[in-house]
Parts: sequence; C-alpha cells; structure tokens
Amino acid sequence: MDHLSLIKHPIEKELNDFIELMNSNLKHDEALLSQVLDHIRQRGGKRMRPMLTLLVAKNYGQVSVETQHAAVGLELLHTASLVHDDVVDESDERRGQASVNATYNNKVAVLVGDFILSTALLNVAKTGNKRIVQNLSELGRTLAAGEILQLSNIQNQEISEEVYYQVIKQKTAALFEACCVIGALSTGASDEEIEKAGEFGQTLGVMFQIRDDIFDYYDSKEIGKPTGNDMMEGKLTLPVIYALNHTPMESMLTLARKVKEGTVNKDEIAVLVEFAKNNGGIEYAEQKMLEMSKICMSYINNSVKEKAVKDALTAYVDYVIERRL
Ligand code: IPE
Ligand code: IPE
Ligand code: MG
Ligand code: MG
Repeated sequence: MDHLSLIKHPIEKELNDFIELMNSNLKHDEALLSQVLDHIRQRGGKRMRPMLTLLVAKNYGQVSVETQHAAVGLELLHTASLVHDDVVDESDERRGQASVNATYNNKVAVLVGDFILSTALLNVAKTGNKRIVQNLSELGRTLAAGEILQLSNIQNQEISEEVYYQVIKQKTAALFEACCVIGALSTGASDEEIEKAGEFGQTLGVMFQIRDDIFDYYDSKEIGKPTGNDMMEGKLTLPVIYALNHTPMESMLTLARKVKEGTVNKDEIAVLVEFAKNNGGIEYAEQKMLEMSKICMSYINNSVKEKAVKDALTAYVDYVIERRL
C-alpha cells in the first residue's frame, strides 16, 4: 500500500463522515457567500490535519461525534487561515485553482475567512468539551501571532534558524500539535498521554513546514499553489538561512537584505535559490526532517498500540517528508 492508503486504512469510514460534516458547514443561503463557499468546497486539500486527529483519537479510544466536531473545527480554522494567508501573501493560486482573493477580491476573502473562522468556533462549541474549546481558541491566537511575528521578522536583520523555528512553531506546528491534543482530549486520554501526543504533533508540524518551504525552491505544477513566492514576500527559509550562515558571502548577504527590504527582483531571487542549493541548504533541511522523524517514531513505538494505527502514523511521518504536494 502507498503512504496515503496506509494512513487512511484505519479511518476510512470516519474520514468520509468527516468530509460530509465539513462540507455541510461550508454552505449558506446568501448568494455571494454561497458562491465563494462552493468555490472553497470544490477543492478539499490533503486533509492532513483531520486524518491526524482521527488517528490519534483512534489510538486512545474511539472516534466519537465529539471528535468529528473537533476535527471539523480544526480543519475550518486551517481553511480560514489559508484564505487569509493568500491575502497577506498576495497569492493567486490555492489547491490548484484561483485563490479566493484572486477570484473575487481581498474584501471578500477577509470576510469569508471570518465567516469560516466563526463556523470553526461553532463546531468546537458543539463538542461541549470546555478544554477543547479553550484549546482551539488559544490556537487561533497562536496562528495569528505567528503570522504577525513573521511580518515583524522582515524588519529583523538577524538571519537565524532560531527565529525561523520560532515562526513555524507558531504559524504551522501549533495546529498539528492541537490536532493531536484535541484528538486525544475527545477520547478522555490522560494528561500524560495528551502531552506526549502534543509533542508528537508539534514535531510533525515543524517537519511539515520545512517540506513546504523546500517546495518554494523548485518549479512545480502538481503542488497547486505558486512557488518562488516566499522571498518575494520577504521570507527567508531554512535552506537559504543555512547557506548564508555556513558559506558567508557578502554579495549573498546583500541580496538577503534586499529580500527583507522588499526590493529584490526575480533574477536576484534565482541567484539566492541557486546559492542555497549549491551550498547544501536543501540537504541540510532534509537532514533536519529526518532527525525530527526519529522523535516521531519513538512516540509511535512507545505510545501507539494497534498495528493498523501504528502503520498509519508511520506512513504519515514518511509522507510529510517525501510528499510532492
Ligand atoms: C498549507 O497546508 C499551509 C502550510 C502549513 C504549509 P497544507 O499543505 O496542508 O494545505 P492543504 O489543506 O492540503 O491545501
Ligand atoms: C503557512 O505559510 C502557514 C499558514 C498560516 C497558511 P505559507 O505562506 O508558507 O503557506 P502556503 O505556502 O501559502 O500554503
Ligand atoms: Mg502563503
Ligand atoms: Mg509556503
């Protein structure tokens, strides 16, 4: 079986129920809102986060209605954050189709993002579990704070891995962490189990964003969103940060400063991308993912009992590293 089939194997039915509940939440009577929600429903994305929540819940107990509402809440929060992220990043493609801001405009994207965020809150409220509600509310704050931190970092002259990890922990890994914590919470797992599941999720999330950032160094048609945008938006990511710090070249540092000032052009970005590739940046980032995957595997080996769930989570870790979209 390939990675995705292994991941879905123990949660086939639950994932179908999830998709049904998710889609029923992306509907409305108002004409324009209905049109935009139809557009978003057309492409569901990879469903990485709900698959994680369902698998973790399965590991500690059973996927219940509470788990499903929580998973829908988390995926809706993710969806809202993508709709808003494309406004912030001025990006015109998402999930292989035009982004909401490109199809309509920024005003529509901001408002529909708000609508989806509130729909996320409605779903976690339906769990009736105060800890889940608290967790998701806190998460929304962390995601927003992470995106803001990323913006203020553009002004920060320091080019360090520490700053990079600080941002991706907040803007991406916190969501994966919450998927595991909330999945476990929905089954009444112990506090110790919840904490371990959260650490597993955070590590996976950091790996997930490192892989996403590597995509940006290559042309890709299958990924369904633009590549080469990060530096245009002032973002320096792990491969180029590594190359700049380990092969210091004044000319490249000058280009990196131009990235941060927002004055860099496409040709200069191509030079920096080549510099990162030629100086071990991609291999370094891949090595980091492999190191982190060991932390994930030790959780899986020590805390996951059922074989099918073990195989699914192992495939999940491999998929995060090897995925092509
Ligand atoms: C995109 O996440 C945002 C990042 C954290 C890089 P995904 O790659 O999971 O997006 P979809 O949901 O599959 O479209
Ligand atoms: C991912 O940031 C985190 C989000 C809050 C969406 P990116 O800006 O790298 O995500 P993509 O590449 O647009 O999906
Ligand atoms: Mg973006
Ligand atoms: Mg990206």
